[in-house]
Amino acid sequence: MTFFMKTIQNKYISLESIIKNRMRIKQSSIQTIKAVANVLEIAEDFLTLKKKGTNWWSPCPFHHEKTASFSIAPAKGIFKCFGCGAAGDAITFLMRYENATYTEALEYIAKKYNIEVEYDKNINIDEAKKEQTERESLLIILDFARSYYQDILLNSQEGKIGLSYFKERNLRQHTIESFQLGYSLPMWDVFSQMAIKKGYNPEMLLKAGLSTFQEEKKQYLDRFRDRVMFPIHNLSGKVIGFGGRILSSGDKKQAKYINSPETAVYKKSEILYGLFQAKKSIQQKDECILVEGYMDVISLHQAGITHAVASSGTSLTKEQIRLIKRFTQQVILIYDNDNAGIKAALRGLDMLLEDDLNVRIVLLPTGEDPDSYVKEVGAESFLQYIQQTAQDFIHFKTQFYLQESNSPLKKAEAVKEVVASISKIADPLKRNYYTKEVAQKMDISEEILIAEANKIILKESEKNNQSPAWQDTETEDENYSSTPLEDTAIAESPLAYQEKESMRLLLNYAYYEVENSISLCQYLLTETEDIHYQNPLYNQILHIFRTELEKGNLVNMDYFLTHEDPQIATTVTQLIAMKYQMSENWLLKHNIKTTTEEETLQQLAFKNILRLKQRFVNKHYEQLNQELSKTDIEEDQDYLLIKAIELKQIEANIAKLLGNVIFR
Ligand code: GTP
Ligand code: MN
Repeated sequence: MTFFMKTIQNKYISLESIIKNRMRIKQSSIQTIKAVANVLEIAEDFLTLKKKGTNWWSPCPFHHEKTASFSIAPAKGIFKCFGCGAAGDAITFLMRYENATYTEALEYIAKKYNIEVEYDKNINIDEAKKEQTERESLLIILDFARSYYQDILLNSQEGKIGLSYFKERNLRQHTIESFQLGYSLPMWDVFSQMAIKKGYNPEMLLKAGLSTFQEEKKQYLDRFRDRVMFPIHNLSGKVIGFGGRILSSGDKKQAKYINSPETAVYKKSEILYGLFQAKKSIQQKDECILVEGYMDVISLHQAGITHAVASSGTSLTKEQIRLIKRFTQQVILIYDNDNAGIKAALRGLDMLLEDDLNVRIVLLPTGEDPDSYVKEVGAESFLQYIQQTAQDFIHFKTQFYLQESNSPLKKAEAVKEVVASISKIADPLKRNYYTKEVAQKMDISEEILIAEANKIILKESEKNNQSPAWQDTETEDENYSSTPLEDTAIAESPLAYQEKESMRLLLNYAYYEVENSISLCQYLLTETEDIHYQNPLYNQILHIFRTELEKGNLVNMDYFLTHEDPQIATTVTQLIAMKYQMSENWLLKHNIKTTTEEETLQQLAFKNILRLKQRFVNKHYEQLNQELSKTDIEEDQDYLLIKAIELKQIEANIAKLLGNVIFR
């Protein structure tokens, strides 16, 4: 599409990009680039955005959705998705969207705005060149090996044994060719000898993982011997490694599969077998089937189930999940029906929930794997079986552990396991839903589950130093049962007070107009977009407002008063009740008899937002100061000081707007 796409896609080929990535852009250059970068203009290079209010919207490029939850606030220079939580500035946008490095993102912006990029000069071009040519050579050698193994399988007398193996496993010619399957001869070094004779660098044969070196005899040996060969492709279809399977199934002395070792081009944790062949179909079906073996993937593809990939015998990694997420959010895991295996696998799967993927699990009938089962029943019944038996992850896990928990101790264990998974779910509504479901299924009170989940969430958020994302059973400094009086509330915690006040305004006057055709709700929600409230319930309420609004639903008090979560319903009731107490108090105090709160709404909302931001800035400033006192590293100190100065400026601006100067 653009110059940029090209540099990214041809990472292997463009020497320029490698050299540049190793160069550091000068700090002064970075500042200039950052100053001109306009997040809206940059995002518009890739997305179609529509203006609504002060922000621009589109469906989120970072998670799959049909509605538009992805927003850009040009004034703030940021983007944010209300669906998946992705957020950042122009540079992070490019890094995520284009899978670009920091340097590449800066260069893109520089190019777009015609800025000259200055680099620090201490870069070793020879090093970069070497790295570049090495990767290139590896890919060339691997492709040579691929064609060699393929040629033996398809066209040689000696390869007939491999071909008949595949035929015996019901693979058709077309399938064998489209997966570029091959066969390696049962000799010690035919491949290595031949490659060296053809002029390939023996060093590179070792680095590609195709050969090994035998010290005593000073001889290059083939890694793969007498095996059917499964080339492993990267996303753009280049061969980066191999899996080789022995022909006999009885040979216990040898590993069934030998795989390429990790090389400069093959990183096991970042590859899913079959993804190159499956990616289009995954995108079209908006679903990815995840199986265990090479043969499973191939068999399913042959049967027309082309959205299957394999993790190749290892447990899923973060990188693999991110790969899947580029194409879909719906994942179906197919497991053999073997308890020990499942239990081990289930532990790692919480990662999928963290990444907001919708995970379902299918167990095949005992003794079957996807390969054997699809052969037995055919594609149609196979898919039908999946549809009928797929259970969402939390339900599956609950069921699985329930089967096992025949003692109270085991049950406690089971609860812990399931709650650990629930607490990983980012969406509070989903979490609520599952808490209810699981409480019922496990015959345990919801409160206990919530308490357990909160323990985990709090621990996590302490680790990440964030406010907890979920409901807190003990609300910190708020006492809703007492009459909230303005001054005492402020005395307790200014931030808590302003939070509460903004919620009160939102709930009472959501659809009042505060400025020409902008509702209070629009105003408040936009202004608080990048604010994470301290009170987790408020975050939940704001989240509901936002998601419902995006769907075009105007939420009102009644919606919350009848909300299924009793904590939300109670909180909202109290906030609404505050209206009367507050305004009475306010009227009395200011000795105003004629003005109603509705009439001064605009001012109220405006002031509240400013005060809210002021409190956040203060809190942030204190945190910076604390960090500053803890670090001796000069660079960090500089960074923190600049941040602190920025905050002081913001604070001054707010104070000016509020008309009362507040400096410490
Ligand atoms: P078939 O037995 O031919 O049906 O193979 P499969 O693809 O169904 O493999 P299986 O389900 O037995 O194992 C799943 C995956 O684990 C394989 O595709 C390999 O990636 C990996 N694997 C299996 N056995 C071995 C082994 O002995 N060594 C290594 N390194 N990997 C293995
Ligand atoms: Mn198998």
